[in-house]
Amino acid sequence: MSCFFRRTIAAKLGRTLQQSEEVFLPALTALPAMKKQLSLTLMQGADFKLSLSALRVQGILPPGGDIQQQAESLASQLKQDSVVEEISAGRGAVHFKVNRRLLAEKLLEPFGKVGDDTFGLNSELLKTLKRGTTLVEYSSPNIAKKFHAGHLRSTIIGNFIANLKQSLGNTVIRMNYLGDWGMQFGLLGAGFGQFGCEKKLQENPLQHLFEVYVQVNKEAERDEATKQAARDFFRRLEQGEGRAVSLWRQFREITVREYRRIYERLGVHFDVYSGESLHQDQAQQVVRELQSRGLLRTSEYGKKHAHTPLRGTGVVDLSPDGDMSRVCTLLRSDGTTLYITRSEGVQAQPFSVLRKDFSFGPAGIFIPSPSASVVSLRVSCRRDIAAAIDRREKLCFDEMIYVTDKSQEDHFSQLFQILLTMGHPWAVRCRHVSFGLVQGMKTRTGEVVFLEDVLDEARARMLHNMSQSNTTKELENPQDTAEKVGISALIVQDFRGPLQSDYKFEWERMLQAQGDTGVFLQYTHARLCSLMRRNEGVEAAPFEPWLLREQTGITILQHLLRYDEVLYQSAQDLQPKHLVNFLLKLCHFVASAHRELPVKGNPQDVARARLQLFRGSCSVLANGMRILGITPVNKM
Ligand code: ARG
Repeated sequence: MSCFFRRTIAAKLGRTLQQSEEVFLPALTALPAMKKQLSLTLMQGADFKLSLSALRVQGILPPGGDIQQQAESLASQLKQDSVVEEISAGRGAVHFKVNRRLLAEKLLEPFGKVGDDTFGLNSELLKTLKRGTTLVEYSSPNIAKKFHAGHLRSTIIGNFIANLKQSLGNTVIRMNYLGDWGMQFGLLGAGFGQFGCEKKLQENPLQHLFEVYVQVNKEAERDEATKQAARDFFRRLEQGEGRAVSLWRQFREITVREYRRIYERLGVHFDVYSGESLHQDQAQQVVRELQSRGLLRTSEYGKKHAHTPLRGTGVVDLSPDGDMSRVCTLLRSDGTTLYITRSEGVQAQPFSVLRKDFSFGPAGIFIPSPSASVVSLRVSCRRDIAAAIDRREKLCFDEMIYVTDKSQEDHFSQLFQILLTMGHPWAVRCRHVSFGLVQGMKTRTGEVVFLEDVLDEARARMLHNMSQSNTTKELENPQDTAEKVGISALIVQDFRGPLQSDYKFEWERMLQAQGDTGVFLQYTHARLCSLMRRNEGVEAAPFEPWLLREQTGITILQHLLRYDEVLYQSAQDLQPKHLVNFLLKLCHFVASAHRELPVKGNPQDVARARLQLFRGSCSVLANGMRILGITPVNKM
């Protein structure tokens, strides 16, 4: 496919400039396809562009001088041939137009009767990416608590990253890191006898656990005895007392089973259900290790910097000069308030349940007693250190990606720094992919508490929209189709912009059939599938690529040339927007082709060539959608 052309052009450049062809590959990219070729461009319909500034950066061209003159002189030195038919100077670049017949042949031949799942994936560009084992941690809801918009975003973004890495040839470990430890289990354990119901737990576990949790929380707020019972239960749990552990285990197992089922609706799965409960002991070891290596220091209040935490707090110094100007707090000395220490200041955080049984350890540091557990971000930091080390040892990942909202940026940057300080060089290959907030994720019945609420609402709304169309009546399982299309709408709405941006959740807009939505992707895919079904007899012989001469078709081919570059870019910054926008644009081009390149009523050979173009488009669209985490529907 595109490699063939890139190679040919690079070889030509290599011969002319007497360099190895390899050096030109990075500077050579496919030009974005445009609906109507702008007459302003120096050469109409060019396919590739060699950026001269990129060559300058690489040191292949001398830095100074007039770049336009350089482009023109280079263009005039290069000779056309049967593959590259036109060469001209563009703005600060040299443009290349390749032979149309070859373009269609090279791009569309791989699509046999059933399409091609690997289109673009074996490109030389993508082969330059490092491969190995990637651990992606995502979704990570908290048992008995709300599944909020942040969890939904983490779920679909993490799934996209895992899919992308997998299609690029990595071994991927998909991990869900459950909030399965903490005082909520003290409360649940204490309250289940009073508010719980075994039957409801079996029927609707997530909802029931949440309700019990809310009720017992309320109770604990006004009743000291309930609070005490919760503390006692949690202590029993921490000490591994049989009955407490077995109730906890039941809550966990039933939650995982239920989540598995709901994730499946979303097309998401996990290889490992890990959780906070797993690293309690190791987290203590981390503290001891930091201490024995002299990395855990005791801060003295106000010594040098206004924001140095309270005296007696256990911190790891992360400042470049070792002057404690940037520290990460791991142990606290005060038992009342929790602060998250940031490099630029101290921010107060509400601290809901705090255990006070600290003991005074060596070096003047407060160490929690073995049974103590502090529900705090600092605990989660120690736990995350332990978890990361454990994952590295057991799962041997080459890179690890955490997907959470941007409020946790400091937490992860400190985590990675501490790991490095502790002598774990692999921490440089740990990455936090963060995302912005979603406003207004509501259903008709109100606020979203459970993942299933969103999925039900998407399905119901989509089913309603589809009921207006005739084709819905022919569907075998309209519910299932509506669900898949509804979910793709959610995903595309979420993935269109940069992940860091906040956005407003809008059902009406995301579910529109026209415009840049997931519904439009699905609609285009279904329409292409239907075209294929209606012409099943046509594709018996190989197609003749020279019959695809119209600009509408060429535009699609030019667009397909960019597919591997788009995946490359996505692999670099892990942003889904490149792929989403590529696919939306493809759908717009396909819509024009449907109008301008009809299959029906044309001679067999023309029909066959056009069908091949549609088959290729359909296949790339489906592959891309799957990477995004969307299941393409064949009818809608
Ligand atoms: N359960 C956490 C939450 O709901 C997210 C966990 C993120 N992962 C981690 N390794 N800290 O906010």
